[in-house]
Amino acid sequence: MVQWTDAERAAIADIFGKIDRDVVGPNALARCLIVYPWTRRYFGGFGNLYSADAILANPKVAAHGKVVFGGLEKAVKNLDDIKKTFAPLSELHSEKLNVDPDNFRLLADCLTLVIAGQMRAAFTPEVQAAWQKFLAVVVSALCRQYY
Ligand code: HEM
Repeated sequence: MVQWTDAERAAIADIFGKIDRDVVGPNALARCLIVYPWTRRYFGGFGNLYSADAILANPKVAAHGKVVFGGLEKAVKNLDDIKKTFAPLSELHSEKLNVDPDNFRLLADCLTLVIAGQMRAAFTPEVQAAWQKFLAVVVSALCRQYY
């Protein structure tokens, strides 16, 4: 089981307390779709994803970004058992959505960039270290149901 120090727990809680949840998820997903265009193939039902402007203006991308962020909130509420919490989500991405698991890391990097942009000076190296550890656990949990 992953061990968390009190400082790491506090830093992660602080990030979720400070950021604007309605902005981070949508912006991170949009950034991922723009920077890594092959990720668009999984969102065939989302309509126009043909340019950066179209992606940024696409309400389905914004709505799904909030859903993804909701997933992260679930992880943060279950820090001590993210693996079990995310088992159904991992199975969904693997079995049904057939998402290449390499893409989890790419979206995670986009989340970090958007959060750093929002938190600015408060995103200290110590806070970043706790955040990266959190995302590494999330990504590993999402990868677990892949065979
Ligand atoms: C931090 C990583 C990620 C998290 C926390 C996450 C979370 C979620 C959640 C909570 C859902 C909704 C599940 C449900 O309806 O029960 C979902 C659906 C989905 N995810 Fe992910 N996801 C992540 C990464 C990705 C990546 C990298 C891709 C593809 C590049 C992806 C593609 C999809 C697709 C296509 C759906 C279904 C969308 C729809 O049609 O409504 N996810 N994800």
